[in-house]
Amino acid sequence: MASLIFFLIVFMNNDNSREKNINKIKYNNNIYIFFFFRYNKKIFYDNTMAAKKRVEDVGIIDIETYFPKLYVSQEDLEESMNVSKGKFTKGLLQKNMAVADCSEDIVSMCLTAMHNLMERGEIDWKDIGRISVGSESSIDKSKSIKSYMMDIFVENENTNILGVDCINACYGGTSAFLDSVNWIESSRWNGKYALVLTGDIATYEEGAARPTGGAGVSAMLIGPDAPIVLGRNLSSHFENVYDFYKPNMISEYPVVDGKLSNECYSRALDKCYHYFNCEDGRDILLFDYSIFHAPYGKLVKKCYERLLDKEENEEESRKRAMEKNKLNVFDKKIREELYEKRVLPTMKLSNECGNMYTGSIFSALYSLLTSKESIWGKNVLIFSYGSGLASTMFELEFSKDKSKFKKWKEIDLDGKLNDRIKISPKEFSEKLDKRENKIMLNNENLSNHKPIVFDNTFVLKSYDNLHRRSYERININCNNKINNITRKNPLGACAPMPTSLAYLTIKKRNYSSRSNNLILKCLRILKK
Ligand code: ACO
Repeated sequence: MASLIFFLIVFMNNDNSREKNINKIKYNNNIYIFFFFRYNKKIFYDNTMAAKKRVEDVGIIDIETYFPKLYVSQEDLEESMNVSKGKFTKGLLQKNMAVADCSEDIVSMCLTAMHNLMERGEIDWKDIGRISVGSESSIDKSKSIKSYMMDIFVENENTNILGVDCINACYGGTSAFLDSVNWIESSRWNGKYALVLTGDIATYEEGAARPTGGAGVSAMLIGPDAPIVLGRNLSSHFENVYDFYKPNMISEYPVVDGKLSNECYSRALDKCYHYFNCEDGRDILLFDYSIFHAPYGKLVKKCYERLLDKEENEEESRKRAMEKNKLNVFDKKIREELYEKRVLPTMKLSNECGNMYTGSIFSALYSLLTSKESIWGKNVLIFSYGSGLASTMFELEFSKDKSKFKKWKEIDLDGKLNDRIKISPKEFSEKLDKRENKIMLNNENLSNHKPIVFDNTFVLKSYDNLHRRSYERININCNNKINNITRKNPLGACAPMPTSLAYLTIKKRNYSSRSNNLILKCLRILKK
């Protein structure tokens, strides 16, 4: 508008001056052009400055967790693996384990999680300025998982997006999250959201570790004024150890020393807690909830008790805890209650889907957010561990505004988990063998394969002789592959889309997020 006014003035001025001195026109124009740029420069400058202002309350604005439709029961696994009854269900405290369809890989799972998050929040693809992926399931030594996410952004003419992949066993997601928060808090932030995608397909070869696998990806929108804010206090512990690693480049299976990994995990927990506690004396009892990286439930329970033990041995802390709670929090029964109240609500997805590796702590957060707990105004202590080893302890603070948590409370996580399909241990082993033998990396096998996935899930579509992969989003219920138009259908993938709506849906990519939302609202009303 400003440009238009300026050019109109210049034009009118030109017209009036035509008969006058030509030099005067040039002089006047120069002045106008000078003021035009000065004025606009001020706008640009102000925008840049606004972005460069340090923002507050940076953290998680939204989070979505994707898990596969298939699962195997731990009870069935106990029987088929010929171990004593209760070893996995009571010994490891696991119930079920998610199993990815053979046509799913880490890229397809990240695509699904990212699209689900963006669509649920009606976020414009143009509003993203950074994508960081935390995963140890990379399918290429050079090409990042993040690069596969770019297609939809290229379509939306937004390629000014920082970030690549972060790798260190189960720790990559934490690194991606912390880097994204740091970017937004920095002077180089461009005012846009960051997306963090974190998760894995965790598989082990036959043996003791196999029941501690799992699968899933969490997608998070990071920005200022968030309902879940990263706290100030943070501590880390890093070492060089060989407890779990993947030296075989063509296998998904790790080389793992299970007992050593547990020892390293506990040592890292002790160190992080020590540094965390030393900083300002914030102990485990001051946190309403605690989230631990969860390879399996028993380890998490032991770790919580380990931190309670430390406080029990600390005279000062013991006194404080007794006074504050007016009861003996170190009594065995009350300890159990503390675990049930403060840790168990974070364990649903771990219990049902197993270890999501890098996605573990974030799926625990998702479990808590979608639970019946009244979490607003509370805080959570988080311990992240990745073999090799990398570990960090940090805290998240929940906003006091109850309305900000409504969107998660409306999610029916139990319903979604119940909507899954159970497979037998035999089918599970066959799927792992197929995955390990790269059976799906063949176009004929891919086209003959009928994926078993939730609606609107991305799967591998083709794989060529140059190892190039392409993906598609499919809808199983209407037995339909969603093409480029129906993929965008806001009425739901199954609904037949009238031409005019199809047109609107395609066109909407060019609109701003506000007009986008308006169109989506109109379409919803039309649908009703
Ligand atoms: N009923 C009840 N409990 C039982 C039964 C039974 N029938 N049988 C065994 N148990 C208990 C055991 O007493 C033990 O309990 P404890 O830990 O309190 O002592 C528990 O079940 C596990 O039994 P173990 O014999 O110790 O199990 P195993 O050695 O076969 O395997 C392990 C466990 C090492 C964790 C294995 O699953 C593994 O290697 N997993 C992968 C590595 C891992 O997850 N490490 C964690 C950190 S690193 C990371 O995240 C990848």
